[in-house]
Amino acid sequence: MPHTACEVPVTQTKAPSIFRKTAESFEPGAKSLPQRYFISPEVFAQEQERIFSRQWVLVGHQSAIAQPGDYFISEVANESLIVVRGKRGEIRGFYNVCRHRGSRLIENRNGQLSAAIQCPYHAWTYALDGRLLGAPHMDDVPDFNKASYSLHPVNVEIWEGFVFVNLNGEEARLRSEATARQRSGDFISLERWFAPLAGKFSRWKSPTLRSAKRIEYDVRANWKLIFENYSECYHCLGVHPELSKISPYDSAENDLTEGPFLGGFMRIAKGRSLTMSGNACALGIADASRVRDRAPAHNRNPSQKIEDDYDHEHEHDGKNRVFYYSIFPNMLLSLHPDYVMVHQLQPQSPEQTLILCDWFFHPEAFKHSDFDPDDAIEFWDMVNRQDWHVCELSQQGIASRAYQPGPYSSRESIPAAWDEYYLRRMKT
Ligand code: FES
Ligand SMILES: [Fe+2]
Repeated sequence: MPHTACEVPVTQTKAPSIFRKTAESFEPGAKSLPQRYFISPEVFAQEQERIFSRQWVLVGHQSAIAQPGDYFISEVANESLIVVRGKRGEIRGFYNVCRHRGSRLIENRNGQLSAAIQCPYHAWTYALDGRLLGAPHMDDVPDFNKASYSLHPVNVEIWEGFVFVNLNGEEARLRSEATARQRSGDFISLERWFAPLAGKFSRWKSPTLRSAKRIEYDVRANWKLIFENYSECYHCLGVHPELSKISPYDSAENDLTEGPFLGGFMRIAKGRSLTMSGNACALGIADASRVRDRAPAHNRNPSQKIEDDYDHEHEHDGKNRVFYYSIFPNMLLSLHPDYVMVHQLQPQSPEQTLILCDWFFHPEAFKHSDFDPDDAIEFWDMVNRQDWHVCELSQQGIASRAYQPGPYSSRESIPAAWDEYYLRRMKT
């Protein structure tokens, strides 16, 4: 069967379990992407069309809209979308566009709607399920039928508690018949898309978690530089001295090494946590009994010093590991023993990316007197800013006429794999 634009990644089996050192999946000869991929408005427009308009894109977590009427606005592929929880608890998505004369319906980025969405222009009113309820004086218009003017819906689904939207299908319906026919074959359900990851992250119970904090970062760098940076720790010793003291920069082992989902884990030194104080800051959330995916210790190359601090006794219980996975095209999922950090990327232009970073904790953790999320948040805020700084430096250098694609090191096998998958999507 030929590959279609949104085909399920057949190269990855469900819940892969073999972890390999980063260099083992390196393909010699890999180079960074050519300049145009980082600065060209044409490439950026193609990305919006071929990637962000066609794939499942992260827009938030279900806990952010816990009550009926709660909503947030999200920008995907230059479209403003309303994501709202309905009366019976269901989550729906709509284009933020009035069916009368097209006005933006909601300006605030989040909030609570009583029972309806009312257009600020001429007061057409829509139910939370998108039906047009009221349209002043439109009864005077012959043949006007409210049922024909519901809000345009968007595909919304939940994966592990996270809300994803997909403009494919609905967008095609809004365009020409020809586009609709061309696109109808490449829509893929969220369930199928995430089938290779089924059950993989269940021990973090992410559907139940709540964000303690969101920080927004306006980064002057192309969105792909953020992914490439996240996918390697070649830079960690120099860029993140604090992080490297707790988590050895060369301890990465990956189980997902090709396709849209990439990553693995790094070690955390014995008795330490990725926090400012180095202490755990909340209740553990991972269910230790389910970790059984570790390669035998004798298959790994012990590296010196900080490796000696690593607690091999607990290597099977997940307490000494932080898992990092990139979920194409806009999610970075960092799973710690006691919290989950998620970066949501919103590309703004070739040179600018808005990054929303949330720190999720177990709901019980909020009730404990020693709960101190700031310890983790401050730590990662520091590391995040260190990363954004080098991403911005990269953007500046790549824009130069002197830039040419440079060779990836063997410790950059995952960014190379990310680039490869990205280029595949851009060709479809
Ligand atoms: S544009 Fe919304 S009611 Fe007129
Ligand atoms: Fe980094």
